[in-house]
Formats: sequence, C-alpha cells, structure tokens
Amino acid sequence: ASTLGAQAAQSGRYFGTAVAAGRLGDGAYTAILDREFNSVTPENEMKWDTTEPSRGQFNFGPADQIVNRATARGQRVRGHTLVWHSQLPGWVSSIRDADTLRSVMNNHITSVMNRYKGRIHSWDVVNEAFADGGSGQHRPSVFQNLLGDGFIEQAFRAARSADPAPKLCYNDYNIENWSDAKTQGVYRMVRDFKARGVPIDCVGFQSHFGTGGPPASFQTTLSNFAALGVDVQITELDIAQASPTAYANTVRACMNVARCKGITVWGIRDSDSWRSGENPLLFDRGGNKKPAYNATLSAL
Ligand code: XIL
Repeated sequence: ASTLGAQAAQSGRYFGTAVAAGRLGDGAYTAILDREFNSVTPENEMKWDTTEPSRGQFNFGPADQIVNRATARGQRVRGHTLVWHSQLPGWVSSIRDADTLRSVMNNHITSVMNRYKGRIHSWDVVNEAFADGGSGQHRPSVFQNLLGDGFIEQAFRAARSADPAPKLCYNDYNIENWSDAKTQGVYRMVRDFKARGVPIDCVGFQSHFGTGGPPASFQTTLSNFAALGVDVQITELDIAQASPTAYANTVRACMNVARCKGITVWGIRDSDSWRSGENPLLFDRGGNKKPAYNATLSAL
C-alpha cells in the first residue's frame, strides 16, 4: 500500500498520529492527516486541565472537534489521558483529603469515558506514574501521595466499570529498554495486575527517542510484556533528527511482535512537534515526506 495507515492495516495494525484541534483549520495539515493515518490521539485536548478545569465543570469542546472529525472519516481514536500528574488543574493538585480525591478521580474517569463511549479504541487510563531512575517505584503525585500505590489499580477498575469496551492501557516513557529499573517496575505491576485480575489490556510505550532511536532490547521488551497477556502499542513516537534507520528499527520491533497492535507518531510535520527543534517527525515543515517516512513505510 502507498500510505502508512493502509500499509499497517494489511497486518491488522493501525498507524496513528497526535492531532491538535488548533491545527484542524490548516488544509495542508488535514490533507496529510486524512491521507496517511487511520488512528488519531488528541495531543492535549483530553487532558484533565482541558476536560475538567474546575470541579464538576466539564469542557469537551476541543476533544469533541477531534473525535467527531475522526469518527466521520473512519479514523479510530486513542484516548489520552485520564489520570496524570501533569497538565492537571490546580484544584486537583491542592486536594488534601483521600476520600475527596478518590471520588474526584472516579468521577473524572467515568465522565470523560462516558462522553466518548463507543468511539475510543484504547484509553491511556494512567500516564507516567513511575519514577525515573533506579527506584522502580511510583513517582510522587497528588494521587500517589493521598491514595498510595493502589491508585493505579483503582483507576483501572473505575475505567472498566465506566465502559467495558475500550482497551485499557498503562502508558509511560523510558520503559523501552528491558534492563532499566523503570521498565522492570512497570513490568512487575502489569504481572501483578494480570495475576490478581485487575483490568488492564495494554501497555503504551511512548517512545520519545534520541538520535539513535530505540534501545537494542526494544523488541525484547515488547515481547516480554506481551507474554504477560497484554497488547503493546507504540503511542507517542518521535526520534531526534528522524534517522531513517532509527524509524525502521522501531517499526520492525513492533512488526515482529504479534501483540504490538499499532504505532502512533507524536505529530505530523516537524513544525507540529512538541520537540520541533529536533525535527523528529516523518514530514518536513512544507509537508513533504522525509527519508524517515519511506523507511517507515517500507518497514510496515
Ligand atoms: C505534550 C504535548 O505534545 C505538548 O503540546 C504539551 O505542551 C505537553 O505535552 N508525554 C505525554 C504527552 O504523555 O501527553 C506529552 O504531550 C508528551 C510527553
């Protein structure tokens, strides 16, 4: 096939991109979006500071724009994200009482998931809960500090009750290298969840890589997680300077793992990227295909 989405579909996978509502009026942007991609992730529009800026007051306008547009075109949607320490409104981070936070968290998960019921293929239920470095433990956050280690399990249980259909993912960065303590911490959590019947269906590997691309162990990491009985997805791929080899290695790691169900790049053109200074994406500022695009298409 001649596009990323169509080629990925030949093996039953999706190929997606992050989308920003503010760019949907740019015809050059939407032309590439609709030609190449069959899944979209709202880049910021489903985050807590946008969807519930004050307690119980939901704002779904920006996410609706993306979801309605994608659904009308037959593009699938990844939900990102329900529980995260970042882009979290001040009214949540200043809660001091566990019972209040638990009900606020459950209400947020339920309300956002209900809004998009039937239209999301995978939800990032919890994002970036593990600490960097060698601890292998959760990072501090209002959720961790008030609810303890159990907050992740509670979030997944609330998500399954809200909507049994979408795949429920744990999503994080720097968990691509098998031997890293952070990877091992997430692996132990997923193994424990599966052993105890906590509802988790997938792990998202953000895959924000440096110039060298993925660690040599990336495919091993994907297959070891898959062996626990979860799907794996590459959810936010970008690679500093977009070396074609680095992109091809990333795509191959996914293609070689049956339970790797799809790849999402974190933006369309370099000018759309949160790392735009590093030119990490598949299309240049003029919307032209870069060498990394051809390498990616060939590896799919
Ligand atoms: C980034 C967005 O791309 C930026 O526009 C925003 O300013 C900050 O967040 N991990 C994630 C994503 O899970 O939500 C982040 O997206 C990038 C890192």
